[in-house]
Amino acid sequence: MHLKILVTAGDGIGPEVTNEAVAVLQEVASLGGHTLALDHKRIGGIAIVTDGTPLPADTLAAALDSDAVLLGAVGGNEFNSLAPDKRPEAGLLGLRAALGGFANLRPAFALKELAVNSPLRPEIIDGADILFVRELLGGAYFGKPREWNKETGLAFNTMIYTRDEVIRVARVAFQLAQKRRKKLCSVDKANVLEVSQLWRATVIEVAADYPDVALEHQYVDAMAMHLMNQPRSYDVVLTENLFGDILSDESGVITGSLGMLPSATIGGKVNLYEPIHGSAPDIAGKGLANPLGAILTGALVLRHSGGLEAEAAAIEGAVRKVLEQGFRTPDLARSNPQGFTVLTTTEMGAKVRETVKTMLVNA
Ligand code: IPM
Ligand code: MG
Repeated sequence: MHLKILVTAGDGIGPEVTNEAVAVLQEVASLGGHTLALDHKRIGGIAIVTDGTPLPADTLAAALDSDAVLLGAVGGNEFNSLAPDKRPEAGLLGLRAALGGFANLRPAFALKELAVNSPLRPEIIDGADILFVRELLGGAYFGKPREWNKETGLAFNTMIYTRDEVIRVARVAFQLAQKRRKKLCSVDKANVLEVSQLWRATVIEVAADYPDVALEHQYVDAMAMHLMNQPRSYDVVLTENLFGDILSDESGVITGSLGMLPSATIGGKVNLYEPIHGSAPDIAGKGLANPLGAILTGALVLRHSGGLEAEAAAIEGAVRKVLEQGFRTPDLARSNPQGFTVLTTTEMGAKVRETVKTMLVNA
């Protein structure tokens, strides 16, 4: 198997964690006789500085010409005063739109090794395994009109969905639920928003084609609470763009750290892979970043773009094993630090590489 991957490492901790993800991917590919063609391009704040735009034309062209794009993170405090369409984040949103993937899969699972790191009691999170399916190309993120009028002191965004946009992402969510525990919870605010009423009615319509999947609906405010009270009750959680952004960060509490969470965006021309954490400028360049979210994102590249299920599972297994052995990055060692071996970003990456190699060689 041959995969052409564009790496857009971006800002802050993006390059550090992406380096580790790439190194793990290379190790796994070479062991299996697969080849990876890697190209690197700028996106986000670094691209604003060097190219004057968060999404340079050559980055976009290379992305469209690849089999998969692996992104680190974008953003930085020095860009905070810029308008949304000039910021590093605009580069990522432009890339998402151009690649066309509308279904952003965000698995969030509790690992028993990390339970001590969660503020939730172990008996609440134990066994929690949720797959968020976040619609990624609609809603308030992309809706027009949008404006901040500084003279009048008025600002607005438009939360907008078409029925077809809901149908296509709902189908992805139902199909994934069929392969899991056959439960789907659709999140909306249908007691207040018309766009959510369309969302709910459309999801109910689509559900008719998936009679084996049990469908429930939750308002987003209630869901924010249920996720913390009873995360084990959920299997696939379907949300619009903004609600999914918020709830998926909240699910970092279930895993023990936001630094653990990967994502894959499918359904478009080229799949886009990104850990869900941000650029964390405060810890950038210090070797403190947790590369496991990026490494698990690499596993999703192999699963969804390479069709290499065994290799993807091996990376996921290696991450679990390394945690079982007591290795941690600082974000995972906030409680009981004395019981753990705290590693830097590169040391953690090397540990996963070594472990996945042993697993694949002995498989
Ligand atoms: C995420 C991030 C992005 C988003 C930002 C960086 C634009 O928060 O992937 O969750 O809001 O989608
Ligand atoms: Mg987010």
